[in-house]
Amino acid sequence: MDVKKLFSLEGKKGFITGGAQGIGRTIAQAFAELGAEVAIVDINAQKAQETAAQIAAATGGRVLALPCDVADPASVGQMIEQYEKDFTTINFAVNNAGIFTGDAALDISPAAFKSVIDVNLTGMFFTAQAAARLMVKHKTGGSIISTASMSAHIINVPQTIANYCATKAAVVHLSKGLAVEWAKYNIRVNCISPGYIQTELIASLKDLLPIWSAKMPEGSRLGYPEDLIGAFVYFASDASLFANGTELVIDGGYTIL
Ligand SMILES: NC(=O)c1ccc[n+]([C@@H]2O[C@H](COP(=O)([O-])OP(=O)(O)OC[C@H]3O[C@@H](n4cnc5c(N)ncnc54)[C@H](O)[C@@H]3O)[C@@H](O)[C@H]2O)c1
Repeated sequence: MDVKKLFSLEGKKGFITGGAQGIGRTIAQAFAELGAEVAIVDINAQKAQETAAQIAAATGGRVLALPCDVADPASVGQMIEQYEKDFTTINFAVNNAGIFTGDAALDISPAAFKSVIDVNLTGMFFTAQAAARLMVKHKTGGSIISTASMSAHIINVPQTIANYCATKAAVVHLSKGLAVEWAKYNIRVNCISPGYIQTELIASLKDLLPIWSAKMPEGSRLGYPEDLIGAFVYFASDASLFANGTELVIDGGYTIL
């Protein structure tokens, strides 16, 4: 058994949504370091371009930016068309773009409620579908990985993000449904549910860090994007060929209490 080959991403290609910053960026860099060709898919076209150029320079790998609003299926369609022109085939898709608004449930407007569903759930589905269609077309099979959240299992406090939590629970269960439908095409669909990870997403909530830490097993710390690399590499690599419909909760022990 060649363990290094098992975890290698040499010769694999795919996209990472929300890859311009935060968790997605770290995963893009890690995948490129392990030999993958990566498309950074992000609504922030300029940042995606900068990130792609920086990762390509740091790793020597092929990293391209593809602007896309995952909440808009037409934009996802254009993105995958361009992806196919640039990369031809796809081995992995990381559906990672996600947002929250923080509006209290009594006050949230229909537009704000829908915006979170559109990115976190609809966006996850249509980027997964786009990748799966390409995997089926080229008969390659592949690995679809979505960033869910521990919020699929707990309700975060003192924030007011009930609808965010609902979308993440939906991502976990939708992944299982897709895993069942697409197993016959040799497509695996799994998800990763992080606990609190210190990225720009939660930068405005930094006063809450001590409150969150206090809810974890004594001596635990909050996470960094690097803490998730192993899980994403596992699902993208051949090390996880028997993993399908699986959720990996990586939260420093937050949800066990
Ligand atoms: N940070 C955490 O504590 C944490 C915990 C659990 C789960 N997550 C999840 O991890 C994922 C990444 O989070 P992060 O902390 O890196 O966030 P982040 O805000 O740092 O980065 C998110 C990226 O997604 C992009 N994006 C936003 N809307 C988009 C859209 N409509 N189309 C395309 N790209 C879009 C942004 O431009 C940004 O580059 C999200 O799904 C989030 O819900 C984060």
